[in-house]
Amino acid sequence: MDKSFFDQFLFVILPYLSLFTFFLMTVYRYRAQSFSYSSLSSQFLENEHHFWAVVPFHYGVLVITVGHLVAIFIPRSILLWNSHPLRLYILEISALAFGLLTLIGLVGIVIRRATTTRIRKVTSPTDWILFAMLLALVVSGVAMALLHPWGSSWFASNLTPYLWSIFKLNPDITYVTSMPALVKFHIVLAFLTVGFFPFTRLVHILVIPNPYLWRKPQVVRWYGKKQ
Ligand code: HEM
Repeated sequence: MDKSFFDQFLFVILPYLSLFTFFLMTVYRYRAQSFSYSSLSSQFLENEHHFWAVVPFHYGVLVITVGHLVAIFIPRSILLWNSHPLRLYILEISALAFGLLTLIGLVGIVIRRATTTRIRKVTSPTDWILFAMLLALVVSGVAMALLHPWGSSWFASNLTPYLWSIFKLNPDITYVTSMPALVKFHIVLAFLTVGFFPFTRLVHILVIPNPYLWRKPQVVRWYGKKQ
């Protein structure tokens, strides 16, 4: 296949297909099956490994997600921060640490779901595909941090303009075509995950239960004989 067509497919057609599917299907699913709009907790089924897997994963993934958003929306602030080498090192090492925390949590989530019979039963094929995609995404992210350092700077200077060119419906892929294969893999996988998002438990990210912050505390009581 013609290389330039292949690049157009991966970095223009695929992103638009993914974004289109994301917006259409998240709205459709919310309206058609709002009760499925969650990541049903499995804590009642297993509560020992749950904490050590789900909590580190979320601390890691939330910081990494916010980091990506800052680089997309206020790239200049990152470039300004990184203009001093010490601050660049601090940012890079922190990003790597949170990436590793995400990876450790995610491996814990997968092991917990694979080895606990009760949890395996409530894990769907879609969950397994999602976990495989997230694992590949996080492993490639951590590998990039190790093999292609200073990502916080080159993301803000090269990938942010590419992403904005997509959002502004005026795609310019010159910024990405010269990137190393690992970076391209991470970008393609990220768009695939965006497209797959509405079909998975990831929809819970869109319905953060904010009222939990101010509602009255709730006491849960179990009735019946202790088994
Ligand atoms: C925006 C804030 C977020 C909140 C409040 C939140 C909350 C939750 C909750 C309550 C669960 C169920 C945990 C349980 O089993 O008890 C969960 C599971 C999960 N979340 Fe999030 N989450 C957030 C962001 C994210 C993000 C950004 C990702 C990115 C990939 C993510 C991926 C997952 C996955 C994969 C699970 C399933 C873990 C499992 O049960 O094995 N979450 N989340």
